[in-house]
Amino acid sequence: MNLLEEDQPTDLEQLVGFSRRGFIGAGALCGAALFLGGGLLSRSALAASVSAASSQLLGFDSINTATGDSISLPPGYRSSVLISWGQPLHADGPAFDPSGKGTASAQEVQFGDNNDGMSLFAFPDDPNRALMAINNEYTNYRYLYPHGGMPTSLEEVRKAQASEGVSVIEIERKGTGWQFVQSSPFNRRIHGNTPIRLSGPAAGHALLRTPADNTGTRVLGTFQNCANGKTPWGTYLTCEENFTDCFGSTDHKQSFNAAQKRYGAVGTSKEINWHPHDPRFDLATNPNELNRHGWVVEIDPFDPQSTPVKRTALGRFKHENAALAQTRDGRAVVYMGDDERGEFIYKFISRDKIDHADPKANRDLLDHGTLYVARFDDGDKNPDRPKGKGQWVELSHGKNGLDASNQITSQAEVLINARLAGSIVNATRMDRPEWIVVSPKDGQVYCTLTNNAKRGEDGQPVGGPNPREKNVYGQILRWKAHKGDHGSDSFDWDLFVVAGNPVVHVGQPKGGSANITPHNMFNSPDGMGFDEAGRLWILTDGDASNSGDFAGMGNNQMLCADPDSGEIRRFMVGPVGCEVTGISFSPDQKTLFVGIQHPGENGGSTFPEHLPNGKPRSSVMAISREDGGIVGT
Ligand code: FEO
Ligand code: CA
Ligand code: CA
Repeated sequence: MNLLEEDQPTDLEQLVGFSRRGFIGAGALCGAALFLGGGLLSRSALAASVSAASSQLLGFDSINTATGDSISLPPGYRSSVLISWGQPLHADGPAFDPSGKGTASAQEVQFGDNNDGMSLFAFPDDPNRALMAINNEYTNYRYLYPHGGMPTSLEEVRKAQASEGVSVIEIERKGTGWQFVQSSPFNRRIHGNTPIRLSGPAAGHALLRTPADNTGTRVLGTFQNCANGKTPWGTYLTCEENFTDCFGSTDHKQSFNAAQKRYGAVGTSKEINWHPHDPRFDLATNPNELNRHGWVVEIDPFDPQSTPVKRTALGRFKHENAALAQTRDGRAVVYMGDDERGEFIYKFISRDKIDHADPKANRDLLDHGTLYVARFDDGDKNPDRPKGKGQWVELSHGKNGLDASNQITSQAEVLINARLAGSIVNATRMDRPEWIVVSPKDGQVYCTLTNNAKRGEDGQPVGGPNPREKNVYGQILRWKAHKGDHGSDSFDWDLFVVAGNPVVHVGQPKGGSANITPHNMFNSPDGMGFDEAGRLWILTDGDASNSGDFAGMGNNQMLCADPDSGEIRRFMVGPVGCEVTGISFSPDQKTLFVGIQHPGENGGSTFPEHLPNGKPRSSVMAISREDGGIVGT
């Protein structure tokens, strides 16, 4: 639809009055003219732009897109490496071996690969010390092994398993910068073979028992750890995402039941191929092992001897992250997305209240409570930013059809096969829910819906918060709990931004919402984080081809938004082939930690060391201002 036909643009002169840091500033006027020339900018869109330009929250100019093998930042900012894949956590540990010949046992005491979500835990009595728990999501065989291909032995599988999980590290501030503290007694690896306890309503269920564990409560390992959460009682939540991909079957004719199929069980392991060498991952002989993964795992970073715990009350699916909030009466709320095309958004509410005076008293808080799944209405189909209402539907055995009429006999079954339960209650099939974050200012909840090329097919209707067929750009959904209480069953939603490419496509649906311009456009929003002042940081995991639908978008990047005005500015561009994921802030907000994951995924990068013939290494970066100010101001 050409918006000009019904909604004429206002004068170009209005654009000139914007502040230097307005998102259509003087330097951007040619882009604005292009906008107008293309018939894109409607009166309503321009009105949104005017209010956006008044943002006092964003204190830097949007930077240009880039395609190089380095990090771009606004003038006055610098970045340094905090830690990279393979860094020994202790001084006596084996050094990183770029040849790929390093062993599994070496990787078990080194920083894991492909860092993703992370949280910072400040020492209560020392502002210059902190712990960071950092997920290591997966590994890239191209760089992990000398031969660069699939694992060929159990030792090589063990090395891959050791590269995933979580790394806990101590960091300290020296001068103005934060550094990794090698040999801290808190430094710890949790990986694909670390003993972990299963707890909550599904623990011990027959579906969780295996030949190696007839109790259904003791599992080895966590892997495919995507993003994270941080509880108010000082623990870290790591979320198991693409766990199914680690499983395969030596029986290529094996048939799978509906639940196994819904979780993606296949006879051949797609890309990971552990099962030919490690029978634990062979569905032909060990089908229940699949049910012991896909959970949220709670870790106490301050107790290196503690056993991590998989909290089954939060449900089993491809967990992206876990965003903590609190009901008005003091109970814990955990918002969670299931990152798969057409899967759901969930909310858990604890039965008991958070004890803020005694953190240890919350040790088992996440074992008792109620899981809900989201249902969105179709709402107002405003072509720019749709909005509507939604409901949380309880996923409790005996309610809403979750009973014998649907072959469900226990709450354990509801949780183990949460996706099936969500379908029974008609939850809304979403465009791949990735991170969820809660505004520290007004409690509104934001969720990235990264993309969904299958929207419009396969029983996934176009509409509501998923308004575009074959959605290649993604959008950010936002909701406000009824009466501001996260314990409420209802909410109002809108789309904070609909990503798009206003240079390649004129108008909706692919040009993006009014707060997308030629100067901030991006695709596939994924990670997010709020800083203390309420700036919303947006990280991308998208198509970096810089061509076709994605022309002019460059490498994956980090942007920063003013939630009130809707204005978005590009803050950082990452190196070749990377995803930007994982974000945390120092307590004084003067250092922003951000993850550069899988640089050179398909070659072409030697980030960050740029050694001749060197290998790229996923890294956590520390970004700060040269003048020591607060990041983003
Ligand atoms: Fe690990 Fe859905 O991203
Ligand atoms: Ca992600
Ligand atoms: Ca993603």
